[in-house]
Amino acid sequence: MRKQIAAANWKMNLTLQKGEELLDDIIALPHELKADQQAIFAVPFPYLAMAQQKVHGKKNVFIAAQNCYNKKSGAYTGETSVEMLLSLDISYVVLGHSERREYFNESNQFLAEKVNICLENKIHPIFCCGEALNVREANGQNDFVAKQLEESLFHLSAEQIQNVVIAYEPIWAIGTGKTATSDQAQEIHAFIRSQFATKYGAAVANNISILYGGSVKGSNAKELFSQPDVDGGLVGGAALVASEFVAIINALK
Ligand code: 13P
Repeated sequence: MRKQIAAANWKMNLTLQKGEELLDDIIALPHELKADQQAIFAVPFPYLAMAQQKVHGKKNVFIAAQNCYNKKSGAYTGETSVEMLLSLDISYVVLGHSERREYFNESNQFLAEKVNICLENKIHPIFCCGEALNVREANGQNDFVAKQLEESLFHLSAEQIQNVVIAYEPIWAIGTGKTATSDQAQEIHAFIRSQFATKYGAAVANNISILYGGSVKGSNAKELFSQPDVDGGLVGGAALVASEFVAIINALK
């Protein structure tokens, strides 16, 4: 059974104190994570140790980094290695977010290297993909996403790919308040799963969690997550409000 996941992406927001408060508030609000459900918090690097400590011993709750570098160690000032993340017991890393692709020029090939170093070190990538508005308007989303998957992930073995979580995040829906409809999300999630099925077989494809991201809120999460190929969400703005993120956790199927 594939996992249903509510993942928070704090991006470059909050202070250490505000982040601590937010985690305390979320932990205090009533929520339940069943055996196949997870909550993941992708927090800024300086807050990883704090966040890891806060969720220590909490079942099915994990902390993620928002990025890592593609090299093992060395003279790469300002970068963070997977070895550093491992030393904090971090088990997930968000890779390929559209903001990193756009502002830091991260290519599919560069991301493939990051995916590799994560998997070699038993860290699960949360691999983001998704098209811009002009691509969607030209109905090119399937080809666009297929290329992202092919160039960054399809060199992996069937065993490795099952350790990757996919986050489909259409760029036109990120931070815009404009959510994909649940039908639009289901359609492209089913397409993404079909790409994995073609490459790795249906059983492997059925094991891969595919999250939707882009203006997910407490009020639309249930409808989105009710779709058969939507296995939860990667959430930005609404994940900064405790009651909203708890509502999103509670909307997991
Ligand atoms: P919003 O939920 O703010 O639209 O952000 C989505 C996102 O980019 C999560 O990674």
